[in-house]
Amino acid sequence: MSASSTSPATAPQQLPLDVVIMAAGKGTRMKSRLPKVLHRLAGRALLQHVTDTAAGLNARSCVVITGHGATEVEAKIDRLATGYGRFSMKCVRQEPQLGTGHAVQQAVPELADDGVVVVLSGDVPLIAADTLRALIAACGGTQLALLTIDFADPAGYGRIVRGHAGWVGDDIAGGADAAPVLAIVEQKDATEAERQIREVYSGIMAVPARLLKGWLARLDNRNAQGEYYLTDVVKLAVADGVPVVAHRIQDALQVAGVNSPVQLAELEREHQMRLARALMEQGVRLADPARLDVRGTLQCGQDVDIDVNCLFEGAVLLGDGVRVGANCVIANATIAAGAVIHPFTHIDGEKAGVRVGEGALVGPFARLRPGAVLGREVHIGNFVEVKNSTLADGAKANHLAYLGDATVGERVNYGAGSITANYDGANKHRTVIEADVHIGSNCVLVAPVTIGAGGTVGGGSTITKNTPPGALSVARGKQVSIANWSRPVKQKR
Ligand code: UD1
Ligand code: MG
Repeated sequence: MSASSTSPATAPQQLPLDVVIMAAGKGTRMKSRLPKVLHRLAGRALLQHVTDTAAGLNARSCVVITGHGATEVEAKIDRLATGYGRFSMKCVRQEPQLGTGHAVQQAVPELADDGVVVVLSGDVPLIAADTLRALIAACGGTQLALLTIDFADPAGYGRIVRGHAGWVGDDIAGGADAAPVLAIVEQKDATEAERQIREVYSGIMAVPARLLKGWLARLDNRNAQGEYYLTDVVKLAVADGVPVVAHRIQDALQVAGVNSPVQLAELEREHQMRLARALMEQGVRLADPARLDVRGTLQCGQDVDIDVNCLFEGAVLLGDGVRVGANCVIANATIAAGAVIHPFTHIDGEKAGVRVGEGALVGPFARLRPGAVLGREVHIGNFVEVKNSTLADGAKANHLAYLGDATVGERVNYGAGSITANYDGANKHRTVIEADVHIGSNCVLVAPVTIGAGGTVGGGSTITKNTPPGALSVARGKQVSIANWSRPVKQKR
């Protein structure tokens, strides 16, 4: 019997890998109608963190055990599965929930005999793929490998009992760290001596499928909680002479579970702090790493500066020298080198994306929506909204304006308060503003319409017909002045 996690007998990646994710628990302490595993951490459901990691391991399949909130959880899995390609995902219901061992028993019909099974929990989101690879290597296709960690306060966790068969009970707590693993004892079943053990089971194991199936069939529920404990497979392995190895890690964040809103928020902050640290290590300057949130992927070039309270969602790319002012929300966007996003700007490219060109200036208080494509040195000022519109190099819309479904040429100046009327109540139409046009203030460009190159539109015009290049076009009531006009006076009653 070996207690070491080194030198696995078989190259692990050659064995097919099947993942079981336990997600049937109720999550009572969340006090929420939403199933616990669907609560979000860094913008993704807890369960999705786990399935994303599993998919990244090149697993053959993944079985999710559902129970509480099963329909919602299963619907989420269906949506995720379409994004994973070859990785097959299935849900199996566990009703009623009779313990973790009973949960994994439900997966047995879906598991082939030839693989290694990795058991994960849907509420332990930050387990790292590298850790799982090491755990799978420790299993090596022949052994039971447990992911363990030492906690100063191990209360509530299953304790790793080590020693030599025959002297359990005497010297458990003091047992040498290298002694073989004999059992996992749950908190509620533990003796006082066992409760002193600091090494705990993380809830994650890697085990050959064939052995797991045999042990699951032999579980009983004769324990303090009357549950079928998955952790009892350890005793069965020891009885069968199958080596049990512990892969002991130090990083508590990876095995931290979410049980309450407080724990969820704590995990979110710690996770965000790690993301912030990683960005700073790449050279990104953050005004305050505690006031950054990344809910997706943020890729940064050199010399990027991000001020406080910025939120990045989806896939965001910031080129060299980009500066982002305080209180910006940027989602699904590519910001090219040297662009400056001033404070309080909201950018969301959703599916179509947003592109901001080199050296462009956006905000403060600007809003870029899906399909906004800004060329080099474009200026978008305060309270300007741009949607599904292309602005060529050097175009400017600096104040209180709307550009929707528009194609705007180079160097166009789009006046304060002007809008494209792109929607006729049924269909959207395009507005084309050719190069070097000046649109005055408070104009309405009723699409479909084209403003010819170099033209000028007088302030306050409602333009419904195409205008010729180079012309001044004015479409508004002529100014009249009535001399000596006396204003009405209020009648006395
Ligand atoms: C479990 C382990 C314990 C370990 C701890 C780590 C057992 C018996 N104990 O305890 O050794 O230290 O995790 O966090 O396994 N679940 C089901 N169906 C069930 C019961 C649970 O799907 O019938 C799911 C839960 O939703 C959860 C996971 O299994 O995702 C763990 O269950 P939980 O009740 O939290 O187990 P613990 O008592 O924490
Ligand atoms: Mg738990």
